[in-house]
Amino acid sequence: MDAADVVAVVLAAGLGKRMRSALPKVLHPVQGKPMVARVLGALRAAGVPRAVVVTGNGAAAVERVVVDRSATLQPLQCVFVHQAAQLGTGHAVLQALPLVRAETVLVVPGDAPLLDPGDLRRVLDAQRAASAAVTLLSARLPDPTGYGRIVRDATGRVTGIVEERDADPEQRRIDEVFTLVAAFRRTLLESALRECRPDNAQGEVYLPDAVAVAARRGERVETLVARRAEDVLGVNDRRALAEAEAALRDRTLAALMDAGVTILDPRTTFVDEDASVAPDVRILPMTVIEGPCVIASGCELGPGAHLRSSRLAEGCRVWHSVVEESAAGAGCSIGPFAHLRPGSRLGRNVAVGNFAEVKNAVLGDGTKQHHHSYVGDADVGSDVNVGAGVITVNYDGRRKARTVVGDGAFLGCNSNLVAPVTVGPGAYVAAGSTCDRPVPADALAIARARQEVKEGWAARRRNPEPPCV
Ligand code: UD1
Ligand code: CA
Repeated sequence: MDAADVVAVVLAAGLGKRMRSALPKVLHPVQGKPMVARVLGALRAAGVPRAVVVTGNGAAAVERVVVDRSATLQPLQCVFVHQAAQLGTGHAVLQALPLVRAETVLVVPGDAPLLDPGDLRRVLDAQRAASAAVTLLSARLPDPTGYGRIVRDATGRVTGIVEERDADPEQRRIDEVFTLVAAFRRTLLESALRECRPDNAQGEVYLPDAVAVAARRGERVETLVARRAEDVLGVNDRRALAEAEAALRDRTLAALMDAGVTILDPRTTFVDEDASVAPDVRILPMTVIEGPCVIASGCELGPGAHLRSSRLAEGCRVWHSVVEESAAGAGCSIGPFAHLRPGSRLGRNVAVGNFAEVKNAVLGDGTKQHHHSYVGDADVGSDVNVGAGVITVNYDGRRKARTVVGDGAFLGCNSNLVAPVTVGPGAYVAAGSTCDRPVPADALAIARARQEVKEGWAARRRNPEPPCV
């Protein structure tokens, strides 16, 4: 069978009652990506060219998520079919079949975020090699509770699949389960499903019943065991969601450690699989790296670093701080308790720490912003000293405006720069100044009330003169 002869049917219409959620089950993210997107990603990686996604509960939201990702799913093409009432997995597949002309239908559940593309490929290869009517992906689970069990006769031939709720105690002891991944000859699937009746505990048309029909007809039913049992996890509730999350996290962290990244405490470290972390990065506890971050060699992150979609060049240190959609040059020190908001660009050897906030601003090489300060919408040159309590007053209640500070300038403590305003290179702003006019290069700006000293004032207050009589 060549690839053009396969269409996947992705089952994503169910309510996901056991999740107890307002969000459709297949949209719950695992490592930041909705489950259904992960399933489609596995199909793409397996080389499946087309998929029919069956939607129902939250159909508009599910379709939007898939459409929004269509570029990253290329060359997989997705179309949708609506299952108005969720009458079972077999009923769902029946809604999709009118759109399928390919010889082989690969059914996959939308709630299996860890599916291995290799397993999908092997199911299709086995189906073709054996010219089978059905090839099931099965798994042997230490605890098969909740899954459909694969029932075989004395000779080992598959005779059907029985759901947990419909199984007798002996069948419940079977540890070989159905994954809801199966390749079917299209013509067989359609006619078998038309024979299936909702005569089971849930009153639904079950896709697994089509397997029993095929077996009864003497059709060839093959099984293939998943390479890793963990990969076939079906997420039905929040516990399974946490299991999926942990499994993916472990894989990502293991791959990073194999590639030379030190992770002191994998239990409290979260790294997105889209992040790129170079060898000889050290990650200390309670660190979260979200989105497509790029971390160069020699960086030390944590304890308590939270990075989102940011880039750090060689040898940066980030601790007890949040860095969002920002970039830092080599040798920067960020934290403790710094917040780099989106659009911040630090040059080399910049220090930002101790309750410093930076937003949509550039800080040049060697600039220091150590204490209790806010630099927003600003272009700050190199080797600038941003004193404690410096504020760029970037918002007048209507508009944002920019502050420009030249190289080597010195911004004294508690100065306010009322934007738009410029401080020239090498200039000084005296502590406590509020500058709303340009400060020329190499000048000193003092913009505060002169100090008045009242000699003896305190002593007089303590010992007032006796009142006159
Ligand atoms: C199903 C299988 C079970 C298998 C398990 C693997 C059936 C009857 N049982 O059980 O044999 O071991 O998956 O994880 O197939 N869906 C629809 N329309 C519907 C019903 C469900 O699109 O009318 C979708 C759901 O959104 C979900 C998938 O089908 O993504 C599976 O449904 P679910 O209710 O989770 O089935 P399980 O009980 O897990
Ligand atoms: Ca399921």
